[in-house]
Amino acid sequence: MTAYLHRRFPELDDTLGHVTLGNAPTPVRRLSRLMTTCSSVWIKDEGAYGNGGWGGNKVRKLEWLLPEVKRQRRSTILTFGGLGTNWGLAVTLYAREFGIHTALALIDQPVDQHVEAQLDRLRASGADIHLTHSKARTVTAAPYLYLRHRRPYLLPAGGSSPLGVLGYVEAALELAAQVQAGTLPAPSSIVTAVGSGGTIAGLHLGLTLAGLTDTLAIGIVVNDTLRLDHRSITSLARRAVRLLQSRGANLPPTTHLRADRLILLRDWLGAGYGHPTSQGADALQLAQETEHLDLEPVYTAKAMAALFDLAASSRLPEGPTLYLHTNGPR
Ligand SMILES: Cc1ncc(COP(=O)(O)O)c(C=O)c1O
Repeated sequence: MTAYLHRRFPELDDTLGHVTLGNAPTPVRRLSRLMTTCSSVWIKDEGAYGNGGWGGNKVRKLEWLLPEVKRQRRSTILTFGGLGTNWGLAVTLYAREFGIHTALALIDQPVDQHVEAQLDRLRASGADIHLTHSKARTVTAAPYLYLRHRRPYLLPAGGSSPLGVLGYVEAALELAAQVQAGTLPAPSSIVTAVGSGGTIAGLHLGLTLAGLTDTLAIGIVVNDTLRLDHRSITSLARRAVRLLQSRGANLPPTTHLRADRLILLRDWLGAGYGHPTSQGADALQLAQETEHLDLEPVYTAKAMAALFDLAASSRLPEGPTLYLHTNGPR
């Protein structure tokens, strides 16, 4: 299927590779059982994206990243994450389909059952795993890892490079088409988890490009090991604009990203990245019981806990809210 970005900017056809790895559009529905206190909360279920039985928000990023790795004739990707990295597993499995090997440098995070199971999957995936424990030690090890894996394609944690960001520019354009088709009302706000920033940066830019310029993107920051604030997310979105321009997209030189249409909230982080919270645990259980929605403790349970609190304290803008669900089946 032709990407919305290519339909919008046909001049990118020959300069920006894209491969479809999932079924679009992802389903949207009202969360009427879960959110009885709030008039209109919808979900866009990114967990349903991905053909390999492995969905979630990583897949859309890889649709833009993997063709670029091929274009640059790199045979290995070197990327980073925590011990239970969803991103690392997704890259390994999808890159393998393209004959690309993956090496992972992993830093410590609290180990629970969820992380243990993920580590088992990572070990079984065929990735080269380097346990670098901390950010500082990862930085020290990076030159060695670069040589050891013979000039790998380097990807930041979560795939949140300007190219990876395009995955959620695309998702926002897809959402706008769903709104236009009458599948859901135009959301006043979108709530989603922020782990490395690519998803929220892509949404912020994509909503602008799609003309949904009144929609407020609300990012719930669940990671304290990276700088994830208004400035860094805006800067990432701007780098994605420059990337599109450098590939020939006919974007106005001063594409205006409305500063007041993006907020980052950290109140549901708890003790830190990967540390479960009781609010998150409650949200996880309630979502499962009422909507058969599978959250996980690190990202989506905290984002859902935030959504409950924001709705209960009337801190959401008036009108429909969209919860962008980023967890996928494994
Ligand atoms: C399930 C889940 N939700 C949300 C995120 C956050 O997305 P991003 O890294 O683009 O901020 C991640 C990964 O980081 C994730 O694994």
